[in-house]
Amino acid sequence: MLFRLLVLALTAILADTAAAAAPTVKLDAATLTGNSAGSVHQYLGIPFAQPPVGDLRFRRPQSIQAYNQSFSATHYGQACPQQQLTVPILQGIPQEIASGVLNTLFAAVFPDGEDCLTINVIKPATATSTSKLPVLVWIFGGGFELGSTAMYDGTAIVKKSMAMGSPVIFVSMNYRLSAFGFLASKEVKEAGVGNLGLHDQREALRWVQKYIPAFGGDRTKVTIWGESAGAISVSLHMLANGGNTEGLFRAAVMQSGAPIPVGDIEMGQTYYDAIVDDTGCSSANDTLQCLRTVPFDKLKAAVDDTPNIFSFESLHLAWVPRADGVFLTDHPQRLVQKGQIARVPFITGNCDDEGTLFSFSTVNVTKENQLVNYMLNTFLPGTSQPQILGLLDEYTENILEGSPFHTGILNALTPQFKRIAALFSDGVFQAPRRFFLNFTSGKQDIWVFLSKRFKALPLVGSLHGSDLLNSFFLGQELQDYIIRFTVTLDPNSKGLFSFKWPKYTTQDPKQLIFLDGLIPQVVGEDTYRKEAMEYLMQLTLDVSV
Ligand SMILES: *[C@@H]1O[C@H](CO)[C@@H](O)[C@H](O)[C@H]1NC(C)=O
Ligand SMILES: *[C@@H]1O[C@H](CO)[C@@H](O)[C@H](O)[C@H]1NC(C)=O
Ligand SMILES: *[C@@H]1O[C@H](CO)[C@@H](O)[C@H](O)[C@H]1NC(C)=O
Ligand SMILES: *[C@@H]1O[C@H](CO)[C@@H](O)[C@H](O)[C@H]1NC(C)=O
Repeated sequence: MLFRLLVLALTAILADTAAAAAPTVKLDAATLTGNSAGSVHQYLGIPFAQPPVGDLRFRRPQSIQAYNQSFSATHYGQACPQQQLTVPILQGIPQEIASGVLNTLFAAVFPDGEDCLTINVIKPATATSTSKLPVLVWIFGGGFELGSTAMYDGTAIVKKSMAMGSPVIFVSMNYRLSAFGFLASKEVKEAGVGNLGLHDQREALRWVQKYIPAFGGDRTKVTIWGESAGAISVSLHMLANGGNTEGLFRAAVMQSGAPIPVGDIEMGQTYYDAIVDDTGCSSANDTLQCLRTVPFDKLKAAVDDTPNIFSFESLHLAWVPRADGVFLTDHPQRLVQKGQIARVPFITGNCDDEGTLFSFSTVNVTKENQLVNYMLNTFLPGTSQPQILGLLDEYTENILEGSPFHTGILNALTPQFKRIAALFSDGVFQAPRRFFLNFTSGKQDIWVFLSKRFKALPLVGSLHGSDLLNSFFLGQELQDYIIRFTVTLDPNSKGLFSFKWPKYTTQDPKQLIFLDGLIPQVVGEDTYRKEAMEYLMQLTLDVSV
């Protein structure tokens, strides 16, 4: 007994010593000091590109030649500038006040600024430069307007992977957002500085190739994983460079994101011109160069005046990846049709009610004719009235068919709420995934899921982002699948009695469905709303919104 106590005490002391000795890693001539968090080490806030400030604002990321100064990597870097949000409805509280409180709180918790291009590495403490562990790279979501790596701590994921006996290294990067990352206009196109946020992510992936071995990672075993805008980003990395991965990744995971229907980068001209006006750059010969010289606060205020994801424009985003001739040589859907797709195995899936969260901004659209106008002028500009009427034949006013799906007469906040939520869900998330699957099936290994958890939540149902609990924050089934997939390129375990997630093909469109209740997983068919989604995708192909 005494002996055992002694051993316990000694172990505790040794563990304490290990925790006290801060871990280090050598990159080029620099020594980085990280954090010890029990069985894992964290290296946070490592710059992966030159700060995109001064004349480097609105330019592609410039790589760091070599680290020549030691530094402490114990804290997350600041977030990239976040777009100010407007809160759609809060009964009894004036909207400006609610929005002000929200944005102030947010900024206090996650400070932001232009010098934001940092990357984080979280690894098993025991991993050394000869361990060659698979690498899971996380790209966060937030509508290309919001978010930072500080909101997504991968420590528990690394610990889980170790407990499963299949350790991985977790990496996450910040990337430029909103107008800072996705400025769009003919000027931007001519200068070749579109889709900078995607270039930032790609630069971070190149950084992983160069430096991950020093942390114990295998540069040939990188999986890129994202949710929402992060998942859309992952899908666009699969389309970039004619589908050539440049060896940057060997597998992909997309939660609520696929190649979205977006048009040419000049579609952002109105918003660009508004910023140029607001910042006093309209008389400049070179408006883009002028924007580089505008003080940050002034530019940020102008950007905040453009629509955000909770504005009336909703998911028809002002700042979003678009065809720029460089990163995206054509509209994403056309690249998909041409088959210019990285042929790597992937997991993709949706929440059942992707659109509900974004349908509160349009609750004043309560009548059929208002919805027709909204679709024609805001959500799907460039379409014709007959096309929209055809679409609304597929997505009817019948509240039994709207989203939250399968909730009967419940949740009809307005006569059009469930219908708009269904249109948003399929238009931006579900139909683009189905479309992508049609052109990848049979060419690579694919696993598809649908999350129907949280169905009972009023108004929102299985809302966008709810699957993050399963995969990221609570470490449920989807997290296990993703860890195994990162290590073996198959989400399934070899266990004889474990649940099997079958592969997807268009001939046999199997889908894993996550449910509330006693039976948490079942296998179903990914064929619901087939005609409606095909109509939607044809429409967006025809008009290139
Ligand atoms: C160290 O690196 C920085 C950033 O890459 C560079 O600007 C600087 O010239 C380097 N200094 C030396 C002494 O190499
Ligand atoms: C702007 O362009 C015009 C015509 O090309 C030229 O005359 C003028 O000097 C330019 N102004 C500046 C500030 O460069
Ligand atoms: C709803 O509100 C938006 C933004 O406040 C406004 O632009 C739009 O015209 C309104 N639509 C209807 C149908 O009332
Ligand atoms: C699926 O892809 C085939 C070509 O591989 C194409 O002919 C067909 O129209 C596509 N279907 C949909 C619904 O996109």
